[in-house]
Amino acid sequence: MEVVVTGTGTEIGKTVVSAVLLARWAGRTGVTYWKPVATGAEEGSDSRDVASLVGPELRVLPECYRFAPPLSPHLAARMAGVEIEPERILSAYRRHRESSGNGLLVVEGIGGLLVPLTERGYLLADLLKALDLPCLVVSSSQLGTINHTLLTLEALRSRGMSLAGVVLNGPVNLENRRAIERFGQTRVVAELEPLNPLSRETVARAASEFDPEGVLERDLRQSRPDGRV
Ligand SMILES: Nc1ncnc2c1ncn2[C@@H]1O[C@H](COP(=O)(O)OP(=O)(O)OP(=O)(O)O)[C@@H](O)[C@H]1O
Ligand SMILES: [Mg+2]
Repeated sequence: MEVVVTGTGTEIGKTVVSAVLLARWAGRTGVTYWKPVATGAEEGSDSRDVASLVGPELRVLPECYRFAPPLSPHLAARMAGVEIEPERILSAYRRHRESSGNGLLVVEGIGGLLVPLTERGYLLADLLKALDLPCLVVSSSQLGTINHTLLTLEALRSRGMSLAGVVLNGPVNLENRRAIERFGQTRVVAELEPLNPLSRETVARAASEFDPEGVLERDLRQSRPDGRV
């Protein structure tokens, strides 16, 4: 079973939601996290944060590209004098699949969906489309989210990408949830309230309440017509 955790933008909670999702699946074999492209490494790393929030049983794949400045990937790459090669990321994914069989993989996106990876305008959405994995959209529960979430859903759908649902991050807001489900024709699979403190313990607790009926897992399994899960 594999899923991409994308979002309406940067700092929206993709890493925290990835950690909760991975903690939800912890204990099964081959639970793996992967951030293929990371920027802002000088301020810490998502891979390290997820590893510490989930625990030692988590497998973390190395990033294909990692840049220190907290910039859009195309800019961070330019400053480092390199060009991001999507094929390198796709072949790392294929190698992982060949070696891990039916493991559980959570891939975290970078910023929002239309973030450019290359100077020629190859977008994160192009990469995710090529990976051909269902996308879970993390968005804020608060004011402004309806517009941002609907824009992201439209961008996914217009590219024929598969949507696994929405996770609302922040204080519960029933009207925003209803509006996103109704106008976005989608399902809010979970609401994640602020964790205080953000720690392995609070992530584990949130995981035990995250999608308790396993709706997301059922959808992810069904989204693979070849039965690959
Ligand atoms: N539910 C939450 N409870 C507590 N803290 C949170 C929660 N969601 C997000 N945060 C905090 O907000 C900040 C941004 O969250 P996070 O790193 O998950 O965002 P992101 O979308 O992964 O960002 P990036 O685009 O840099 O990858 C972090 O400092 C994180 O600890
Ligand atoms: Mg992150």
